[in-house]
Amino acid sequence: MKRIRRSDKYQIELTIKEDSFINPPRAIQRSAVINRALKEFSADVEAIDEQTKHFVTGEVDLEIRTINDRTHTKLSDQEIMEDWQIPLMQRMADVICDTKGDILEIGFGRGISSDMIQDHHVKSHTIIECNEQVIIDYFEDWKNKFTGSDIKIIQGLWQDTLASTGLFDGIFFHTYPLNEEEYMKYVQESITFAEHFFPHASKHLKKGGSFTYFSNEIDSLSREHQRLLLQHFSSFSIQVVPLKMPENVKDIWWANSIVVVKAVK
Ligand SMILES: C[S@@+](CC[C@H](N)C(=O)[O-])C[C@H]1O[C@@H](n2cnc3c(N)ncnc32)[C@H](O)[C@@H]1O
Repeated sequence: MKRIRRSDKYQIELTIKEDSFINPPRAIQRSAVINRALKEFSADVEAIDEQTKHFVTGEVDLEIRTINDRTHTKLSDQEIMEDWQIPLMQRMADVICDTKGDILEIGFGRGISSDMIQDHHVKSHTIIECNEQVIIDYFEDWKNKFTGSDIKIIQGLWQDTLASTGLFDGIFFHTYPLNEEEYMKYVQESITFAEHFFPHASKHLKKGGSFTYFSNEIDSLSREHQRLLLQHFSSFSIQVVPLKMPENVKDIWWANSIVVVKAVK
């Protein structure tokens, strides 16, 4: 079976090779669901056409890109997190701190989101950070600003330390691939980098608690992304954050907006 959707600028062709594939009781049902899928894909392609008109050039050449292991390396401010992400950090902090409860943050970095979490006067703030240079250069000074607050730093990979923590009202996940292997596994093969953390987030949230992460989505959530969220969380809400992207951005993000997700257990 073959279906084609044409426009002036592109053509989408779907060939179903097995009769048993998408095979509801009636032929009309088969047509309806396949047509809908093609229509949706076509709308998506048109949205992508619009989005990419606003992409900045960026500096990373994906063809020759390699990531040297950065688990313990001394990094500059911008290597840890580029400034364009600051407005995003604010929205992400806001969505998980609404209950002002026990917050878990994975990846301290420059401490910018940690500042925003503290601004919400949360009950407790547990931070997991693997890079001891980040802890010495950024965390040690930062914690002196909040002497009366309940702040706990756990040094290590979340993969090795999370099990000993407990349950939280909010989880803020903002790490990056530490090496080439993580890049291939969690960036190339995933709908969002945080995908590998979804089951762990769900396990460490109290009922009704919320989880946020760098979504890798420009203006909405793909169906694949939504289905994945619904495997681990009972509901989610999203908001689109406009971004002022520098033309020479080094991160792998070029769009002028990003979606903030609040996934609720
Ligand atoms: C993008 S930065 C976080 C930026 C932070 N949100 C801020 O506002 O400054 C990512 C941080 O996650 C840490 N990290 C990366 N992978 C990790 C892992 N598996 N376990 C713990 N920390 C990790 C890195 O060392 C880095 O400090």
